[in-house]
Amino acid sequence: MSSMGKIRKSVHKLMLQQGDMLIKESRTKLSVRTKSSSTDLVTNVDWKIENELKNALLGLLPQSQFLAEETDDKYKSAELLWIIDPIDGTTNYVHNFPFFCISVALQVEGSITLAFVYNPVSKEFFEAERGKGSLLNNKPISVSPTQTLSKSLLSTGFAYNFGSTDENNIRFFSHFHKLCHGIRRPGSAALDLCYVAKGVFDGFWEWYLKPWDVAAGVLILQEAGGKISNFNNNNFSLTDDNILGTNGSIHSEMLAEIKHLLALRETS
Ligand code: IPD
Ligand code: CA
Ligand code: CA
Repeated sequence: MSSMGKIRKSVHKLMLQQGDMLIKESRTKLSVRTKSSSTDLVTNVDWKIENELKNALLGLLPQSQFLAEETDDKYKSAELLWIIDPIDGTTNYVHNFPFFCISVALQVEGSITLAFVYNPVSKEFFEAERGKGSLLNNKPISVSPTQTLSKSLLSTGFAYNFGSTDENNIRFFSHFHKLCHGIRRPGSAALDLCYVAKGVFDGFWEWYLKPWDVAAGVLILQEAGGKISNFNNNNFSLTDDNILGTNGSIHSEMLAEIKHLLALRETS
């Protein structure tokens, strides 16, 4: 087995264990605090999972560094960088809405190379390695064949700066809602991207996400045949403040609508 293969196997096992812990801890009394706003929640379990993951991943690759939401949130360039969101969908976790996950990516010399997203409630384990495709529970997945926006199901989310930014996504939501079959707001950007990868959603967009929200989901979607860019159709960078991920077929149609929405902002 290649060294990447061994790392994949170990991370897979580790995330299954942490997923069990996530479920077990949800039955205890959670300690919930707020961060950047009254809706930006963090629990004792976010901290526990992040610390346990970091210790174990450092054991696997002692020379690696971290970009992790709760304990190491400054972007750095490192040869080997683990990017961790210990719970993506913390609000869902706190309220027992069964759509949350652990998200882990390994960036090697600036390129996301391995990606893992695990929802311990649905037991969906998404995994990708650059150049080797995407798997859901060890079976290959691919994006939907939907060709037009008018026949699409989309997803999006709303950032924690909702009350303090002009671009709170309501304008985008309302515009796209008239153009497609429907829009969902499930509450986990990592899983949203994976649901485009598995062909449930045809497209996903969001403002103001952080690298740990999307690092793993981006590779999983690309390796499932999807397309990712920012709203200006440039190659997506983890530090961009907007993201569009689609099945590829509806990408240019969505970009044209976004261009129109951005132009309206400039003229108003
Ligand atoms: C959040 C989720 C949500 C998105 C927010 C994110 P968190 O991450 O991904 O879907 O709309 O913008 O911050 O706080 O649950 O890790
Ligand atoms: Ca997140
Ligand atoms: Ca989180």
